[in-house]
Amino acid sequence: METTLVLIKPGGVSRNLIGEITRRIEARSLRVAGMKLIRAERATVEEHYSEHRERPFFGSVCDYLTSGPVIAMAVEGENAVKAIRAMMGATNPLEATPGTVRGDFALTIDDNLTHSSSDPEAAARELKLWFPEGLPH
Ligand code: CDP
Ligand code: MG
Repeated sequence: METTLVLIKPGGVSRNLIGEITRRIEARSLRVAGMKLIRAERATVEEHYSEHRERPFFGSVCDYLTSGPVIAMAVEGENAVKAIRAMMGATNPLEATPGTVRGDFALTIDDNLTHSSSDPEAAARELKLWFPEGLPH
């Protein structure tokens, strides 16, 4: 059993895609183990994307993630990390397969609607960052 982090970025929240994205996750028999709508602190987002600190898009992606409310979601299930990454699709929506969230609802890389953890180690780190209070049980 794995738990992974999904973020619905501000564009996904403002476009009323919370339900659609969550519906797909639940339809896959993955379990929502934690969920909250928050306005992220800049420091949280910078820590979240710390691996990209030197990349040219770091400032703009941090601006975007703090530009409005986001959904932070913990998703649990067998191979949840890989399953969720596949469901969200390629980083660049132009390369994302139809049927994925990005392939169906996004058009540009700077507004690709969701984040999902890349591997179990990243998932553990990110869950601690976004759910410092822990998950309800
Ligand atoms: O989100 P994912 O793990 O698929 O991609 P990433 O390579 O870890 O990049 C993190 C985020 O930075 C992406 O989801 C995009 O929102 C943003 N990004 C961007 O705006 N421009 C790029 N050239 C690459 C990434
Ligand atoms: Mg990533």
